[in-house]
Amino acid sequence: MDERPTNDFRRIQTRADIVEIISSYVQLEHKGKNYFGVCPFHDDHSPSMSVSPDKQMYKCFVCNATGNVFTFVENFLGVSFLEAVKIVADRIGETFTVRESKEDVKNKKYYDIMNLATLLYQNNLRTAQGNEAREYLHERGLNDDIIKDFSIGLSLPIPDMLYKLLSSKNISKADMDALGLIGEGNNGTYDLFRNRIMFPLKSPTGKVNGYTARIYHGEDQAKYMNTRETVIFKKGENLYNYHLAAPAARQEKFIVVCEGNMDAIRIYSVGIKNVVATMGTVLTKEQIGLLKKLSVKVIIVMDNDAAGEIATMNCGQALMKENVDIGVVRLTGKKDPDEYILAYGVEAFRDNLRNPLSFPEFMEITLKKNKNLKNPTELTAYINDMIKFISESPDELLIDVTINKLAEEFHLDKDLLRSRVKNKELVTEVKVEESTPENTTKIEKNNNKFTKAFKTMLYYMMNDSDCMRMFLHYQLDLPKCKYRLVSNNLIYYFELNREIDFADYLTFTEDYPAVNEVVKEVIRDISISEFKPEEMESVILVLKEILDKEKIQELKKEISTELDVNRKKRLLEEIIEIKKGCVKNGRD
Ligand code: CTP
Ligand code: MN
Repeated sequence: MDERPTNDFRRIQTRADIVEIISSYVQLEHKGKNYFGVCPFHDDHSPSMSVSPDKQMYKCFVCNATGNVFTFVENFLGVSFLEAVKIVADRIGETFTVRESKEDVKNKKYYDIMNLATLLYQNNLRTAQGNEAREYLHERGLNDDIIKDFSIGLSLPIPDMLYKLLSSKNISKADMDALGLIGEGNNGTYDLFRNRIMFPLKSPTGKVNGYTARIYHGEDQAKYMNTRETVIFKKGENLYNYHLAAPAARQEKFIVVCEGNMDAIRIYSVGIKNVVATMGTVLTKEQIGLLKKLSVKVIIVMDNDAAGEIATMNCGQALMKENVDIGVVRLTGKKDPDEYILAYGVEAFRDNLRNPLSFPEFMEITLKKNKNLKNPTELTAYINDMIKFISESPDELLIDVTINKLAEEFHLDKDLLRSRVKNKELVTEVKVEESTPENTTKIEKNNNKFTKAFKTMLYYMMNDSDCMRMFLHYQLDLPKCKYRLVSNNLIYYFELNREIDFADYLTFTEDYPAVNEVVKEVIRDISISEFKPEEMESVILVLKEILDKEKIQELKKEISTELDVNRKKRLLEEIIEIKKGCVKNGRD
């Protein structure tokens, strides 16, 4: 509980005029006793919000948003209640100090250090040693106002400039390390960021918590270097420029989401301040939460290459699941929004924002691309893709509209499509695991016989439904490896389609690049001159034998080091069980 006297709130609320405060954010018109304006809390076009000077309250007749001057500022600016009180107090010349949250107090030390570092970098950019970097920025069309708005700075090619400065302020090495600012080498402690233009990354409330640092001459290094995850920097919880974009987005009723920080800066600098950048990653739950909180349309404008198309799909899908209103812009002619605006101007860019595709329209165009819909296999793949995508939507109406559209376009039975959408919900998707060197097992690396058998088995599985069923019957305990990616993916495909069609399965795997690659390897390496599904069982048994042997080896090793007699006994019993299984299958 806050023990602050409620008098404080009362005093500020009485002194503040709700009409004056609200009209600084929203245009209000005087009618009779009250004032009216367009409600900023829903997608409104006519003045449905009334503000009463007598009651010092606002109320929207459409979305029922209601409250006092504090809740208005709180919701409009997306700040906490206490921050809203402070903003109102500042406006009327009252004092009100916001007590910081525990988290803020704990981290204050860290934010102070980041501020010091940022000041150093900003200062470097203003010195003679910063001439070249400043020229680089000016050449890219970023003037001094923008450089200031984004707190852009420069780290110099000096090994330990920041380390020395912070040390002289009695800041501990441990703290600098916790913030990802320094490293330890043969010649002692050094600055991690050197000779790069420093773009501070800020938390949703505008506090510097990390950097993205760009090279500006020479091309022999990674273009961008970013702060690693630290005590205060969690990449997935930031969106570049969110703190400046949020109030602008509420005003404009939409927000632009792009990939690169330079794109966000360009878009902002031409007057579209409601823009954030994902910085090249997939949207996390927290980032979606930040966007959703704004209750505005999200317009996705990624780079115009293939990676940008995939990013648009991922980003859109994540937002669709949260029922966010989505628009998609695909730029043509230039690589990214930055270059597009420089080449064609802000008005051309605004035109794109005014006419975005809906997300289903974008998906339709993208999924149809490079497919020959006159070919039944490819058409089936397209329809399956559309169903897979749309069934993720929580919007029943959108699902229905899409089904009707598909049914009419290709003369299909609506009920069939509808049942496919429902079925999809019943199917448990087998997670596609990433294949990394760590989870490539010993068995896969050292055993040629094992890989050969696995690949042969996969080959049979993707060609024949009976082989697929036999595989499911045996329930092999397969080790984590890239081949298991494919068997899991095959199980998923088989659950969806109830039968295997080789060509259709190949198309299906195009959505899973890691799987697709292994499938191609299997097709390349396994040439079966005479396709004999009856061979399937013996291949499975070869695999089972190898796996059992491996398991027994492991158990034996465990027994030899186990001190507990009872547990030793249990491990022995396990070995006997495995051996029995081998006998049952006619092998030992
Ligand atoms: N990125 C990164 N590390 C890299 C390359 C890119 O972290 N080596 C991130 C950056 O946040 C970058 C985004 O991915 O902004 C998009 O990358 P890219 O399109 O290559 O960069 P641009 O935004 O076009 O940057 P610039 O215009 O400065 O070249
Ligand atoms: Mn660029």
